[in-house]
Amino acid sequence: MKTQYFTATSLDGFLATEDDSLDWLFPLGDLNDSSYPEFISGVGALAMGSATYEWMLRHADSVAAETGSAWPYTQPAWVFSSRQLPMIEGANIQFVNGDVRNVHAQMQAAAEGKNIWIVGGGDLAGQFYDAGLLDELILQVGSATLGQGKPLFPRRVLSPVLHLTSVRQMGSGMVELRYDVRKDNPDNA
Ligand SMILES: NC(=O)c1ccc[n+]([C@@H]2O[C@H](COP(=O)([O-])OP(=O)(O)OC[C@H]3O[C@@H](n4cnc5c(N)ncnc54)[C@H](OP(=O)(O)O)[C@@H]3O)[C@@H](O)[C@H]2O)c1
Repeated sequence: MKTQYFTATSLDGFLATEDDSLDWLFPLGDLNDSSYPEFISGVGALAMGSATYEWMLRHADSVAAETGSAWPYTQPAWVFSSRQLPMIEGANIQFVNGDVRNVHAQMQAAAEGKNIWIVGGGDLAGQFYDAGLLDELILQVGSATLGQGKPLFPRRVLSPVLHLTSVRQMGSGMVELRYDVRKDNPDNA
């Protein structure tokens, strides 16, 4: 069982524009050409922050048109927020606030031996990293730069913590990079 941060990012390290647009991303490649289909079949629980969840709320119609459901995940999900957010009908979601370690324990129990997906954003993934709970980064790096926006991973992580394990080109618009997060580093005890 691994805790994995799987996400697309711009070449200069942004998940989305400052106003949470992903329009730059979709022309770069098809998620189904990435390792996503295999990846999602190994996921037993997932977590996201409120901005990512609110993107899903705002795009419920297009998500439903593409995937058949406004909430495309069958796995139990945890949404981090200090606010009260509307529930997407039919979704298995727990709204949580605060320390990621307690939530991670709940997710582990629910995942029944499968992997835990940190969907994003970057600081939430960083909170799992800070707690020593992040095992792997799986990044689809798009051939585009945004200049500014929502950061991929706002942490300083120096060598030798990230260990590159695979590189896979998807046409000219994307490359998928996988990194193990080494736990034997004193900065990540
Ligand atoms: N490129 C991709 O594949 C990809 C992947 C994922 C996300 N995205 C996009 O990237 C953007 C990410 O936005 P973001 O960087 O703002 O991150 P986010 O994690 O989606 O949302 C951040 C917010 O979550 C809440 N939060 C985070 N940690 C918390 C904690 N421990 N306890 C309680 N609440 C907590 C806080 O808001 P409140 O307390 O105010 O609710 C915080 O401001 C979104 O637009 C998303 O759609 C893109």
